[in-house]
Amino acid sequence: MPRDSNGFLTPGRITATRQVPGGIPRPEYVGRSSPRVVERDTYNEEEISRIREAGRIAALTIEAVGNAIRPGVTTDELDRIGHEFLISQDAYPSTLGYRGFPKSLCSSINEVICHGIPDNTELVEGDIINIDVTAFKNGMHGDTNRTFLVGDVPQEVEELVNRTREALARGIKAAAVGRKVNVIGRAIESYAARFGLGVVREYTGHGVGEAFHSGLVIPHYDSPAHSQTIEHGMVFTIEPMLTLGSPKWEVWEDGWTVTTTDKSMTAQFEHTIVVRDSGVEILTLP
Ligand code: MF3
Ligand code: CO
Ligand code: CO
Repeated sequence: MPRDSNGFLTPGRITATRQVPGGIPRPEYVGRSSPRVVERDTYNEEEISRIREAGRIAALTIEAVGNAIRPGVTTDELDRIGHEFLISQDAYPSTLGYRGFPKSLCSSINEVICHGIPDNTELVEGDIINIDVTAFKNGMHGDTNRTFLVGDVPQEVEELVNRTREALARGIKAAAVGRKVNVIGRAIESYAARFGLGVVREYTGHGVGEAFHSGLVIPHYDSPAHSQTIEHGMVFTIEPMLTLGSPKWEVWEDGWTVTTTDKSMTAQFEHTIVVRDSGVEILTLP
């Protein structure tokens, strides 16, 4: 089992590539080394309905995966469940083949901040695990993630998870047409600071819709340099990663798995939202 003698994660074995039925349309980047750049962040109502449908499928996928979370299950089995659910909805798992990512969801345990690759790691009681799913359907991506507890976890860790969920809620509340995008990070960072939690800075929210990641960057900390004004119809994710210790990070040799450098526990929650003159709507609800 891929853990070291201190119980920290180590790279595991990755299973063969799962297949997607030929009838399910693929994003343009599949089979290419990197995506085409789509610099478009506002959408009309018909397009928003399509992002909402993709987002709903992503959220339902996370529910299906969450129902299987228990000690002893491998992250590869969770990936299999997510993959089968997505294709049952005629959706493509957006991460599969994205810049070479090999699986249909990201599974990030304990000190893994994000982009963990499903493998033969078994969950154990006391773990926390983030499941991040993006679905592609009718030409649009919907991107969401949640952190789950595996059985009983230490109180401090449960609080980290609850506070990260609340940090996302505060970021969503801060978003409004006419405000600058950095108000979102300011709300998240000031909430996290109350509890002495770290905020990961270099991984951010992003524009999403026609592209999995547009050029739009949504920081989770107060970054006055990100001074873009939020417009009516803008669609983007907010996905704060909070840490119990330092928010400094490093990446495994696999090129994907991002962990805290001090191996402190970290949690994340993500929604795709649309901001309108009338307020914010979450597009990744089940
Ligand atoms: N879903 C992640 C995000 O929230 C991106 C995962 S990209 C992958 O932006 F290649 F790691 F899957
Ligand atoms: Co995202
Ligand atoms: Co995501």
